[in-house]
Formats: sequence, C-alpha cells, structure tokens
Amino acid sequence: MRILLAPMEGVVDHLMRDMLTRVGGFDLCVTEFVRVVDQKLPKKTFFKICPELHHGSCTPAGVPVRVQLLGQEPGWLAENAQTAVELGSPGVDLNFGCPAKTVNKSKGGAVLLKETETLYSIVKAVREAVPSSQPVTAKIRLGFEDKSLAIENAVAITEAGADQLVVHARTKTEGYKPPAYWDWIDKIRQHTSIPLVANGEIWHAQDAKQCQAQSGCMDIMLGRGALAMPNLARTIKHQEPIMPWHEVADLLIRYSGYEIYGDKGRYYPNRIKQWCGYLKRQYAQADVLFNDIRRMQKAEDIVAVLQRQSSQGTED
Ligand SMILES: Cc1cc2nc3c(=O)[nH]c(=O)nc-3n(C[C@H](O)[C@H](O)[C@H](O)COP(=O)(O)O)c2cc1C
Repeated sequence: MRILLAPMEGVVDHLMRDMLTRVGGFDLCVTEFVRVVDQKLPKKTFFKICPELHHGSCTPAGVPVRVQLLGQEPGWLAENAQTAVELGSPGVDLNFGCPAKTVNKSKGGAVLLKETETLYSIVKAVREAVPSSQPVTAKIRLGFEDKSLAIENAVAITEAGADQLVVHARTKTEGYKPPAYWDWIDKIRQHTSIPLVANGEIWHAQDAKQCQAQSGCMDIMLGRGALAMPNLARTIKHQEPIMPWHEVADLLIRYSGYEIYGDKGRYYPNRIKQWCGYLKRQYAQADVLFNDIRRMQKAEDIVAVLQRQSSQGTED
C-alpha cells in the first residue's frame, strides 16, 4: 500500500509536508497547485511552492515531493511541466479537481471535467513534453455537476498516457460534503489500466479499510484526515494508536517556526490557528487551545501556551 499526502492550497505547504512526513507513513507528497495561464513561469515560482526542489525534491524526512500544475492550455502546461521536471520534480501532477470559482471561471480545475477532449489534449501534451522516465499523473473529481463523464474522463486521461490517477470520489458540486462515493472509483478501475489512488473522507484507519474494499484500490491519498490526526498514515499502515496530544503540541510548536525565526509577525500564529481547526475533529484539547490562543497575535505567547500543554502531557 502507498499513502500519498494530498495537495492542499493554503494549508499543506512545505512546512506542513515537513511535519507530517517526519511523523511518517507517507510515500509521496504533491504540492499545492502552480497556476499556469499563458506563459512559461519563472523558476522562482516553482521554488516558492516547492522549496524542496533545492533538496532533490524530497522533504527532510526523505519523502519525494511532486509539483502539481493547474491550467487549461495544453501548450503552456507542457512547457511548465518541462520546467518542473528540469528543476528536479519527480514527474508532474495535473489538477483537474479544483472547485474554486476564480479558477473555474478561467477554465482551470474541475470545470475541465465537462470537457473530456481538453483533458485528453492536456495530458497528451504534457506526456510528450516530459521525459518518459518521469511520471505524469492527474487528479480528478467524479465530475462537475454530475458523474456522467467520470469513466469517460478517466479513460481519456489513461489513453493520453498518464501514469497514475488520483480520484477524489465526489463531484465539484458535492464539494467536501460527506459521503465520498468510493464505489465509483471501483467503476472507473474496471475501465482503466493505470494505477488509481483513492481519495476523500478518510479520517480513521477503519475508513481506509472500507475505502480500499469499496474502491478496489490499495493506494490512498490523505488530506484533511492527516491534518486532524498527524499520525493517521501510521495508524493505517502500522496499527499505531492515535498520537497523544502532548506530541501534537510539540508539532504545533515546531510548525510555529518560533524556535527558528523568533516572534516575527503574524503568519505562523495564523497557521497554528488554522491547523487547530482541523485538529478539533480528533482532539477536544484543540478546541480549548483554539479558544485560548484565538486573540493572541504573538508566536511567543502562543508557544508559551503550547509548551505548557506539551510538558503537561509528559508528566501524565
Ligand atoms: C483547503 C484545501 C485546499 C486544497 N487544495 C488542493 C490543491 O491545491 N490541489 C488539489 O489537487 N486538491 C486540493 N484540495 C483537495 C484535496 O487534495 C483532497 O482531494 C480533498 O481534500 C479530499 O480529500 P480528504 O477528504 O482526505 O481531505 C484541497 C482541499 C482543501 C480542503
């Protein structure tokens, strides 16, 4: 079984990838999307989204990180895919699932699920531009408004030469509302020959088992579930118990960047609050923490609260 860490724009950045891959259980990360419109992007854009490119495109724990592109124009996507691979990304991933209005208005993301031929042209152009030793992978939802093109789209992506397809088992209209229709991944699997990766609504080891059984896929991708339980991948692979809260508090301290950067601004405090929002699903303590730190703007103050929680846990 392979477990992939999901791309999550604005949430899973290089720091979060570092945290979660240190905890372990992940085999591959995919970056937040690089938006491609009508130009060859400068290298700095790729390094900004994927600083791991400076280190062989691996996280400090040694897990490979693949750059994801989002766009609608095959030629420009192909050129930028080439750049990503030249800079060291292990292949390139194409995003056909983003529900954001701004992206869909300019014809990127999930709206392309209504245009099977465009999906085909994009994957084909990117496949031709990238050396055959490097994988070209894609990520889709089951459709835009309905699931009528789910199989056709997956077949087109396969025939265009993709090496792997992640399926987030919901339409764009279904958003992030449970359930995820894992059985639809099985329907797609019966019509495609490339490896599929099942994604959506995996919060516990038990969900992973059910998802694997219903989708027929061994490989899975974890998004929000991994943020809610940092060792979710290890609970799935190694039947490890859920990480105790004091260890989560340690991760939050590291994520704050305080130990490295000191109290420099609001960026990291806000990210901690955002992560708390996800952790609340598994840890009642995250709710308490969020209320305690809600009005705090200084990393120093937040870290002091976290340090108390971290040492309380070890005294238990
Ligand atoms: C805040 C947020 C940002 C996301 N950004 C991306 C993205 O940049 N690229 C992408 O392919 N999917 C993105 N997704 C979708 C996730 O990768 C994943 O498919 C989705 O969250 C379902 O998986 P989960 O139930 O395990 O979270 C995003 C999801 C969320 C909630």
